[in-house]
Amino acid sequence: MIIQPHIQGCVARNCHPLGCRAAVHEQIERVRATGTFAGPKRVLVIGASSGFGLASRIALTFGSGADTIGISLERGPSEKGLGSAGWYNNIWFREAAEEEGRVALNLIGDAFSDSMRQQSIMAIRERLGQVDLVVYSLASALRILPDGTQVRSVLKSTGSPFSGLGYDLEHDALIPQSLDPASEQEIRDTVSVMGGEDWQIWMQALAEAGCLAHGAQTVAYSYIGPESTYPLYRDGTIGYAKEHLHASAEAINLQLAGMGGHAWVAVCKALVTKASAFIPVLPVYLAVLMQVMKERGTHEGCIEQMMRLFGDKMYGGRGVLADGHRLIRMDDWELDPHTQAAVAALWARVTPENFRTLGDFTGLRRDFLALNGFGLAGVDYQAPLEPSSLLALHP
Ligand code: NAI
Ligand code: NA
Repeated sequence: MIIQPHIQGCVARNCHPLGCRAAVHEQIERVRATGTFAGPKRVLVIGASSGFGLASRIALTFGSGADTIGISLERGPSEKGLGSAGWYNNIWFREAAEEEGRVALNLIGDAFSDSMRQQSIMAIRERLGQVDLVVYSLASALRILPDGTQVRSVLKSTGSPFSGLGYDLEHDALIPQSLDPASEQEIRDTVSVMGGEDWQIWMQALAEAGCLAHGAQTVAYSYIGPESTYPLYRDGTIGYAKEHLHASAEAINLQLAGMGGHAWVAVCKALVTKASAFIPVLPVYLAVLMQVMKERGTHEGCIEQMMRLFGDKMYGGRGVLADGHRLIRMDDWELDPHTQAAVAALWARVTPENFRTLGDFTGLRRDFLALNGFGLAGVDYQAPLEPSSLLALHP
């Protein structure tokens, strides 16, 4: 079969398995070109199959020689289709890491469940002994609580509605989008799914099971963004969840104090991922930001952000470079005042007619397609793929 990209709204409905391999290898090559750092050797990554979690795993394995266990919720090939990009990312990452002699175990299942916590604890004992770092990088719309209750996160504003131009990836067009104000229940539910409660449960369980090495650290990922995006992010439901995540870092830090451990939040820059493409209006900001940061030479992708996080701000030999609130500011270049002034000026001029000439929508589309294995150099997209060969691959 020959696989063409199928985008619906802002969701990719398929992926190209061999393109995913090229994308993983591209990230590995960028790490190799950057050089090594003296980082952790045994790492658990929760949310490891795409976006920041995958980039973290690649940076740590190929930059610091780390053995890793990665948890993700992904779909393999079936009657319904070839499976998800993250499924293949896991496979290609493991193959490349094992070639380097590294442990790279993939656990597929629900990271919010106690059974996944137990499975991970057993795997850590068996394969790594203990871990020196836990990366928490989940992005999810659903959390199933231990009693079976389903809680859903929503992307809404709070207080008053917010509207603006959004980007329709499917039709390459700007369209009006709006965020309705969330109810109190919706805010609470979003905090339950995307806040820090589950992160804290993880760290408690790992500590009690003796899986954390002395001095172990943990980091979760957050976003704050410039004031111009506050109505749709920081002051939206997701912003409340991130606020809770930040508070959880303080609580977890205290929890780890007895064993010399620390908890941090890395506040990252806005980037195209499966999760961020889904946030109303934000992709227009993203395309304008990419335009400006590329012009200024400060643009970074997921892998560059994670190399700078681990290689410089966490394990660069100067201690962890965080502010007084346990936040590691990876959004420093995004929030640079000159960058933001240029972004604001451009963004104000964007219309459904001129957007392609003002923002880097070409780059945004290219990055989005690459997340799903499309448009990568060195891949023969005309060569038919034999589905049975994919069934033989295992995470
Ligand atoms: P992503 O969608 O690329 O990755 C999410 C990961 O979570 C995947 O590995 C997925 O398999 C896993 N996952 C989701 N539900 C799961 C479940 N129930 N059990 C096990 N695994 C599950 O998203 P992205 O963008 O990498 O997000 C990761 C974190 O980074 C999020 O907390 C996000 O808010 C944060 N972040 C993202 C930014 C962006 O611009 N993309 C900016 C700053 C922070
Ligand atoms: Na991730």
